[in-house]
Amino acid sequence: MELYLDSANLEHIRHANSLGIINGVTTNPSLLAKEDPKVDVKKRILEIFKMVGGHLSVEVISTDTKGMLKEAEEILKWFPDATIKIPMIPSGLSAVKFLYKNSIPTNVTLVFSANQAIIAQNAGASYVSVFMGRLDDISTDSNNVIQDISEIWDRHNYESLIIAASLRNPLHLTQAAMAGAHIATVPYNVLMQSMYHPLTDAGVKKFLEDNAKLQEEINKLKAPIFNTITKDNTKNQETKAENKEQKIDISSQKVNEQIVEEKAKEIVENTETQKIKDENENKKNNQTKNTQKTNKKSSSTTKQNKTTSK
Ligand code: E4P
Repeated sequence: MELYLDSANLEHIRHANSLGIINGVTTNPSLLAKEDPKVDVKKRILEIFKMVGGHLSVEVISTDTKGMLKEAEEILKWFPDATIKIPMIPSGLSAVKFLYKNSIPTNVTLVFSANQAIIAQNAGASYVSVFMGRLDDISTDSNNVIQDISEIWDRHNYESLIIAASLRNPLHLTQAAMAGAHIATVPYNVLMQSMYHPLTDAGVKKFLEDNAKLQEEINKLKAPIFNTITKDNTKNQETKAENKEQKIDISSQKVNEQIVEEKAKEIVENTETQKIKDENENKKNNQTKNTQKTNKKSSSTTKQNKTTSK
């Protein structure tokens, strides 16, 4: 399932696009007005397209076929790659048919039922936008609606692509994908929420803390050895420089870094081995002491017995 961003906010679009997770953008008059009521639509649409490329739906605001087609013509003049977004109303369907015949892609929006989706598909819509959030708002299970539409599409091999729109939360996104929607157009906040999981953040925090501890230990071990090796290295380099007219030997520095790493490892290993040796030694000593004690005890008991028997 592809993801589009449902937004006209340049910062949000720039960020989502920089993450490499969106294949297009859908806008509508409300989203454009939300950013700036006096927004220059043409300028904004071109800015968005320049940023993202891919799919970009631009909605008409006329409600009669003639007006919609005039607007579509205007939009296509300044932006030939636009997908014309048309509301699911009878006059809109005539406009969709006309544009279909002229190979202009359309996105039929404000679809709330399987029947509306079927009709839009038959008019020649390239995309059918099913509004999940607004269905849930009126206590109609949007998951059922999107599932029905998907099933009908499979059964009839319909060509229009189903867009799950009006998503309000990450669950809508999952449901749309499970139902088989081809695309989900997601508001920025829902996209960000969908990316987040508290266990991911906790996991990253823990990895960083553990890595910092490890680095600290390595640095503690490295410091004294590095000083010794650097001294030796300086001596060697001085001799070399005398012989070879002071050439800087970068590869020898690398070798030294390797030696430092190996030495550090060796020290850790030796420390571990020594620890085990010491532990074994302690055990042995304790055993010997115990045996000696037991022997002493038994010899004194024998002595006592002998005295008593006398
Ligand atoms: C989709 O194309 C619509 O622009 C959008 O999803 C509408 O969402 P809303 O119901 O949150 O306004």
